[in-house]
Amino acid sequence: MTELEALAELAKRRGFFFPSNEAYGGTAGFYTYGPEGAALKQNLEDAWRDIFVREEGHMEVSAPTIMPEDVFEASGHLDGFDDMIIECSECGATHRADHLVEDAVEDVEDAEALDTERVAELVADHGIECPSCGVALADEPVDEFNLMFGTNIGPGSSSPGYLRPETAQGIFVEFPRLKEYARNQLPFGVAQIGTAYRNEISPRRALVRVREFTQAELEHFIDPENDDPPLERVADVELPLYSAEQQQGDGGIQTYTVREAVEEGVIGSEWVAYYLGRTMAFYERIGVDMERFRYRQHLAGERAHYAADCWDAETELGGNWVEVTGFAYRSDYDLKKHGEYSGEEFTLFRQYDEAKTVERATVDPDMSYLGPEFGGKAGDIADALAALAGRDRSAFESAAQRDADGSSGDEPRDGDTVTVDVGGESYTVPVEKTGFSVDEQTEAGEHITPHVVEPSFGVGRLVYSVLIHSQGTDIVDDEERTYLDLPAELAPTSVAVFPLMTKDGLDDSARDIAQELRAAGFEVAYDDTGNIGRRYRRQDEVGTPYCVTVDYETKETDTVTVRERDSTEQKRVAVEELSDTIERLVDGETLADL
Ligand code: GAP
Repeated sequence: MTELEALAELAKRRGFFFPSNEAYGGTAGFYTYGPEGAALKQNLEDAWRDIFVREEGHMEVSAPTIMPEDVFEASGHLDGFDDMIIECSECGATHRADHLVEDAVEDVEDAEALDTERVAELVADHGIECPSCGVALADEPVDEFNLMFGTNIGPGSSSPGYLRPETAQGIFVEFPRLKEYARNQLPFGVAQIGTAYRNEISPRRALVRVREFTQAELEHFIDPENDDPPLERVADVELPLYSAEQQQGDGGIQTYTVREAVEEGVIGSEWVAYYLGRTMAFYERIGVDMERFRYRQHLAGERAHYAADCWDAETELGGNWVEVTGFAYRSDYDLKKHGEYSGEEFTLFRQYDEAKTVERATVDPDMSYLGPEFGGKAGDIADALAALAGRDRSAFESAAQRDADGSSGDEPRDGDTVTVDVGGESYTVPVEKTGFSVDEQTEAGEHITPHVVEPSFGVGRLVYSVLIHSQGTDIVDDEERTYLDLPAELAPTSVAVFPLMTKDGLDDSARDIAQELRAAGFEVAYDDTGNIGRRYRRQDEVGTPYCVTVDYETKETDTVTVRERDSTEQKRVAVEELSDTIERLVDGETLADL
């Protein structure tokens, strides 16, 4: 059995995760976390929160998962969030066309970066067949398929909405309010752990590609000219990097410290470098096998529509590298777009060190003209004129004058016009009615659109990676055992309590001890079925790091046996010291240290 098959079997049998809705035939791309998996996922999210919210001093929010269409028009997802689809007209199955090409054509590693025509050509040239029915796909078109799930907000269809494809948009759209909570000071970070939805064409590999999944995302808003990351905190952290250059030369992973990677220009953004460094501690803490881990830089054609520089954290699972986290320098893309589309302020005021005198173009529209001419639109047109003057004063300058004498043309001439766009309609106003002028003003600062650095974690892929990397087998007492060597912090159960027998009061004592440990804050399982060896095996299999056995000696000496999962060592511990002992063990000591 491969490690992926072994995990799939364990996950189902012991309740880590399983395909959803199986009673109704199952729904591809949806998984339910069972009792063990839900606890593990929660512990992983708590560890993430501890590092990326608490230690970094950021805020956390929780936004709705359904958002109106306007949001995704602005963010670019409506137009740009597509994958390439090919449909087999013989059996009706749909497939990711780029994935079929990558699987079949040896020298194409990143077909996503190609256009649909080229992918269709490759499908035909290489005789690629439908994986479901085996018929050649040569004559099938390759199309773009938008991955967002659409819905209607309220009855009727007048208010279309979408299930968010990334939690990030729920943060960006609230920027005007969030900046107030940050007292209008950059930099500040806003985190969110929540569900995202993508109507994947070919969900596959268990939790790796699903249609509903949890993301843990941090949007760090910075002033690109004045804010530097605290690089010294991570300068010596070693990063396993697989840069774009190495990929093109097929050179493999190279280890750099964060300092070296920045100084040698391997990582273009210091902020991205900072988060690659910070995140190493997180992966180690949650039990990713760092021998099966790398950071891979995106090739130019691979970047998301919003990203300026991008690296992925990848784990090796069953022989394939899988992206578990994306690190993107999103620049001012999202805030600018939401500012443009909503008309609201997605900027922050940056104070100058010293006040400056600047030329400023302003308008003072003649409403006695705009009102009768444009009716109810007059106010919006006046606002649009003001925005245009701030953005592009040349629009008000006299074209005739520029042509005639080559002057800057600040003074408009009678009859010149300026055109503004309001609600998709164009309106033309004589410049003389706009009250346009250019004046000298003293300014204390300026409005800037912050840039965004974004580490974006897929929680399901991390859960899956940790489970696969934690699987182990060894021989104990001449028997093979399977175990998960999960970090104690992540294990669904931190301590299991067993009575040796369910008689002579041993079970009552064990239940009392279990209850006391729960009261002390541990996740505790109580188990009195089967022999002790089998009970140990059951707990090893789900990664419980410590087991406590109550036996006849407990009655005599008020002690219990504590057994460690990894070493299978056992030690007697006084009941009154049990909770402290477990705490020390969970914090990293071993039985041998005590
Ligand atoms: N806000 C940026 C963003 O969403 P992404 O690279 O598309 O970036 C971030 O997604 C992470 O979400 C990925 O690294 C991956 O771990 C996870 N993810 C994306 N699509 C997924 C899917 N269909 N199933 C499971 N996890 C997914």
